[in-house]
Amino acid sequence: MSDAPAPTGPRSSLLDRLRGFGPAGVPEAPKPEAEGRLTRSVGMTLEAVGLNVSVGRQCQVINRDGRKIEAEVVGFDDDIVYLMPIKRVEGLQPGARVIPISSHQGMRVGPRLLGRVVNGLGQPLDDAGPLRGDDFLDFAPHDINPLKRHPISEPLDVGIRAINALITVGRGQRLGLFAGSGVGKSVLMGMMTKYTTADVVVVGLVGERGREVKEFIDHILGPEGMARAVVVASPADDAPLMRLRAAQLCSRIAEYYRDQGRNVLLLMDSLTRFAQAQREISLAIGEPPATKGYPPSVFAKIPQLVERAGNAARGEGSITAFYTVLSEGDDLQDPIADAARAILDGHIVLSRRLAEEGVYPAIDVEASISRAMPNIVAEPHLKSMQRFKQLLSRYQQNRDLINIGAYTPGADPETDAAIERFPHLRAFIQQGLGQAVQLDESINHLQRTLQPSGQAGAAQGRGQPGNGPAGPGPRRGALAAQHSGRGQR
Ligand SMILES: Nc1ncnc2c1ncn2[C@@H]1O[C@H](COP(=O)(O)OP(=O)(O)OP(=O)(O)O)[C@@H](O)[C@H]1O
Ligand SMILES: [Mg+2]
Repeated sequence: MSDAPAPTGPRSSLLDRLRGFGPAGVPEAPKPEAEGRLTRSVGMTLEAVGLNVSVGRQCQVINRDGRKIEAEVVGFDDDIVYLMPIKRVEGLQPGARVIPISSHQGMRVGPRLLGRVVNGLGQPLDDAGPLRGDDFLDFAPHDINPLKRHPISEPLDVGIRAINALITVGRGQRLGLFAGSGVGKSVLMGMMTKYTTADVVVVGLVGERGREVKEFIDHILGPEGMARAVVVASPADDAPLMRLRAAQLCSRIAEYYRDQGRNVLLLMDSLTRFAQAQREISLAIGEPPATKGYPPSVFAKIPQLVERAGNAARGEGSITAFYTVLSEGDDLQDPIADAARAILDGHIVLSRRLAEEGVYPAIDVEASISRAMPNIVAEPHLKSMQRFKQLLSRYQQNRDLINIGAYTPGADPETDAAIERFPHLRAFIQQGLGQAVQLDESINHLQRTLQPSGQAGAAQGRGQPGNGPAGPGPRRGALAAQHSGRGQR
């Protein structure tokens, strides 16, 4: 495997001898550290000997033709150091020099970071020129003492009625957005970016189709969404290390704004692709697969990433995060979905059945839950949410009977109520692409939706819910009356 000289003497003498392998004409590295030599390249993994560097260290591989390739140390085995290139590479040669480089990784940040699109290294992908700013953001993670974290105590308005009212999200909460492909994750994330009351939105597009990045920025976010958003994009054809870096960079940018006292909404699409990037790296350097091809280190990396979101100390801002998790066919065995469910503070499930019926956003209310909700909403709101779920669930249980006409009205008052309310419950979940629904209005609308027709006039203010006046709890009854007579769906 390795044609390096046998390590007979002390390490320094071996390294001295290895220096001699460097091709003539390549400038001598300015670093005092020993440089290595490439001995093997299989798939994305590079192996070098002669280096004395730690895992995570950046190196430059200099090909004989002088081309420089940046790579990171991802593991070692005795004298062999494993590296992974950060960008995809071709044409590497055996014996290429490997030089450790100083790794003060970071990027310039400032007010003009908003509206920009960067890659996993913090380099601009848009045409708006180099990043400028007075601050230098170091990429090293920023740890928070868990005892100093401010508990989740206030709701965050995400601008989506069904989420605001039925799966209320707390500032600093971390949620999963579980869905199969094409069910509406990107559109829902775009709506949240535009309509949330968070100060800053950081969007991570990790490992998804390259075409989607532009589509998401131009069509789903648009100038309105981009105005207070930063997008970090690393599509599926990027090297796995770049995809990992992109996921970490989103968290780092979100931390930067949180440390300034801002309320940040972090949307990452997707956590599954992040896990797959980590799997590619781990398998390539020889870690044995454990669950469904995922090596154990993947399950360690997910909490490390997710734990970076959340609240800081009191008054220091928050990161509320949504991570999309690909879950096809309700596969409860999917280890990434399992791991995500265990670590996140709630999950929103998008249902293919609803999407197929044209119900958008296709939120499966029964299957979704916000674990923070009981601590951040008033008792009547919580009761309304439970009632909504009960009615919906009762209808779904009897759906087949009702559809074939086998249910006799009057047989069960609860089922009768569910049948009477069902169109209103359905309409409640639906929300137009261009429609923002504030938190207060979402709660008001929930109350109206639950009132049987006879109690609040002929109609219950459904149909154009986003247009109604918003108001706090005590005015809800009055608002319901105001809304009576609205067009029915
Ligand atoms: N709120 C909505 N209103 C109307 N149509 C929608 C809505 N959300 C999604 N759709 C439809 O569903 C399609 C897929 O949505 P989207 O791209 O958001 O799905 P996705 O889950 O991100 O897919 P992928 O897994 O491929 O990334 C859209 O092109 C659109 O036609
Ligand atoms: Mg998508």
